[in-house]
Amino acid sequence: MKNTHRRSFVKQLFTGIAGTVLLSSHKGIETKESTPFLGSNDSSEAFWENVKKQFKFAPKLRYFNNGSLGSCPISVQNATNTFRATLDAHPSKYMWGGWRDEKEVVREKVAKLFSVSKEEIALTHNTTEGMNLIAKSFDLKKGDEVILIDHEHPSAVIPWTVWQEEKGVKLVRPVIPIMPKTIADIVKVYEKAITSRTKIISMCHVINTNGMILPVKEVSEMAHKRGILVAVDGAQAPGMFNINLKELGCDFYTASAHKWLFAPKGISVFYAKEASQHHLKPLMVANGYRDASIRRLENYNTRNLPELLGLGSAVDFHNTIGKDKISKRSYELKAYLRDKVKDNQQFRLKTPELDELSCGIQTLEVVGKNVRDVRNSLRDDYHIDVRPMTTYGLNGIRISLAIFITKKDIDYLIDALETIAG
Ligand SMILES: Cc1ncc(COP(=O)(O)O)c(C=O)c1O
Repeated sequence: MKNTHRRSFVKQLFTGIAGTVLLSSHKGIETKESTPFLGSNDSSEAFWENVKKQFKFAPKLRYFNNGSLGSCPISVQNATNTFRATLDAHPSKYMWGGWRDEKEVVREKVAKLFSVSKEEIALTHNTTEGMNLIAKSFDLKKGDEVILIDHEHPSAVIPWTVWQEEKGVKLVRPVIPIMPKTIADIVKVYEKAITSRTKIISMCHVINTNGMILPVKEVSEMAHKRGILVAVDGAQAPGMFNINLKELGCDFYTASAHKWLFAPKGISVFYAKEASQHHLKPLMVANGYRDASIRRLENYNTRNLPELLGLGSAVDFHNTIGKDKISKRSYELKAYLRDKVKDNQQFRLKTPELDELSCGIQTLEVVGKNVRDVRNSLRDDYHIDVRPMTTYGLNGIRISLAIFITKKDIDYLIDALETIAG
């Protein structure tokens, strides 16, 4: 294809059309015609019931476990399947350069979604990889310190332990209050843990156990004044609520696109602030390793390109509904759920209430019941999937409120829990 034609082909295929979802770079996929409602201003319950229909869960399943893994909307599944078929029809052509422009279009879309430059985005595989990349990059010395609160996910704790603690770097693990009242309560914990040897704060954006949002912006401001870098495990946040990475101000942010962004499995987003990129060393080296740009961090040779392009379709899906609308809906579902349980003595919420401190993940204890029994009963008797959380004395089910959850689903869940509670 000639360059000018090629460029307009790419533009045509990857530019979203208002009111529709752009699905694929290939003919024969008509689902964009069936979803113009997605771009409407409607935000009634009927609208969200229709959004739910864009996902294909097993019959009867009520999926409140998006925090473990998301589901691709039909449009994203179709687009990714077509990308896969195209690759299998012309394997070497597409793997080795045929989709170079399309890949850059995806990078640009992701960058725009998070309000940063595309030169600050690498397209990696998962959050765990990003945490390994960060933790392995630093040439820290014996006695240097990295702060990780007690609630960090193993995907952050293990890389810091293996790549740094084992050579004598100290991992400082302050205890965070599980139900803080203000952001300042959390910032104080980090501030107190800092010493003259602190080099990096590694923190998650949303804690996976009880959905608490950590104040990345405030911690970054405080840490940067002291010359400390901030690395963020953002597995749970992108797609749940609006994120402006520039405003958050952290140095590194690694995110799972296969959760709340509903991208295909095994594709993720890694952000490194331009000024902080020089700290990072690729986990893998291959042809092109001398590339000075952020692309050197995603230099895998053969890789999951159909899924990577599917990420572009997932961002289109997200944008067509609108990121503000999605964010608002997450908070609306949270308020609806909390309101239904707040006066019932059989339930105890284990997630802080303030919107600055929690959003689409809420953890709920059924008082006097073992959480595993509650989970099993929900699964076996009601076809409800939730994640049981046993650490830190939570004994609660983690309820994920993604946009395919409707208020009727929440009613059904709470009815089931009331029966289980007796
Ligand atoms: C806070 C947090 N960090 C990291 C991960 C791991 O994500 P991934 O499987 O994308 O590496 C998860 C997954 O649930 C998580 O909740």
